[in-house]
Amino acid sequence: MSATLDTVSLLADRINALEESSTLAMTKKARELAALGHKVISLSVGEPDFKTPQHICEAAKKAIDDGFHGYSPVAGYPDLRKAIADKFKRDNNIDWKPENIVVSTGAKHSLANVIQVLINPGDEVVIFSPYWVSYSEMVKLAEGKAVVIDGAFDNNFKVTPEQFEAAITDRTKIVMYASPNNPTGSIYSEAELRAIADVVARYENIHVLADEIYEYINFTPEGHFSMGSIPEVAERVITVNGVAKGYAMTGWRIGYIGAAKWIAEGVEKLQGQVTSGTNSIAQKATVAALNGPMEPSIEMAKAYHRRRDLVVKLLKEVPHFRTNVPEGAFYAFPDISYYYGKSDGTTRIENSDDFASWLLNTAYVATVAGSGFGAPNCLRISTAASDESLVEAVQRIKDAVATLQ
Ligand SMILES: Cc1ncc(COP(=O)(O)O)c(C=O)c1O
Repeated sequence: MSATLDTVSLLADRINALEESSTLAMTKKARELAALGHKVISLSVGEPDFKTPQHICEAAKKAIDDGFHGYSPVAGYPDLRKAIADKFKRDNNIDWKPENIVVSTGAKHSLANVIQVLINPGDEVVIFSPYWVSYSEMVKLAEGKAVVIDGAFDNNFKVTPEQFEAAITDRTKIVMYASPNNPTGSIYSEAELRAIADVVARYENIHVLADEIYEYINFTPEGHFSMGSIPEVAERVITVNGVAKGYAMTGWRIGYIGAAKWIAEGVEKLQGQVTSGTNSIAQKATVAALNGPMEPSIEMAKAYHRRRDLVVKLLKEVPHFRTNVPEGAFYAFPDISYYYGKSDGTTRIENSDDFASWLLNTAYVATVAGSGFGAPNCLRISTAASDESLVEAVQRIKDAVATLQ
């Protein structure tokens, strides 16, 4: 019977309008090829290749033994909200109280919640591009309008305050960015964020959604800076963070916001009707993460730094790739557009999607096309993999592009 159903028209318009996550799609394809016996090197997923530090795992086991089996408060356990408020003060110089914090099911959920809570149909969200694939789709789901502004390759993919101000209209409600950035690894410096905050300060209806999920993976000598620490705009900056990347806890699904109380209450209200409080065991583990030793995270960041150096060096040896030096996170984002219009005799490559598919199907290296990140000339390569895999992957890429003409 289902064969005759017009499932597309049965699905809600909001789902039909949504793009599939390109990172998850590539990861799925790579798994399928691997299941067929191919030696796939998967550099598509945005996930640490480390295990969660042991003391955090122990805290989760203890939470089970101590009987944290029930529903938590919707916004999170009080000790976790306190640990997050303390973390904001300690690491970011941001003054939020526990009542300003809402814990959610990953930073992805936190971002989606805030957008649902602030955006009315037709409201505009300025997105600094390249951007993480889900931003524009979250805005679409809220019936908002994504206004994407491109950071130039020559400005390390960063948007200038002038570009930002030129994109502002009467409908602009949010500006959002990630620093350190996925997919580029770029980091907005303190001076750059202060200049952007100067613009925000002049438009009282604009809120900033600052995604700092890669905070601890920062290779700059200056370290991380949070716009939320600037007093002139602090009330209007919603800082999003989580434990996925910095503590290798992607599967634990804990993200959080620090925001003005009325926004935190809006998110709590939404969450109260949709998901309730997130996983109680993972919340207890996160208390241990935030209050515990930072050495494991520092060691992981050192490994990403070393791999960044390795991959950038290797990618610079791939003919006609143009590669910036990422300052944080765990991605390289070369411009591969030289190869558009070229063919290996069987497959012609017109764009980044073609390139990523071709690379996976011929060289068994899974990457992600730049198109989904708002950068159609680029390819995202995750460096969260062993040195051997990275060396082998770039060698395969080199061999593959040598067949293109
Ligand atoms: C920029 C950015 N923000 C948010 C997230 C979501 O993190 P979480 O796993 O905590 O939902 C990701 C994950 O890839 C990301 O790259």
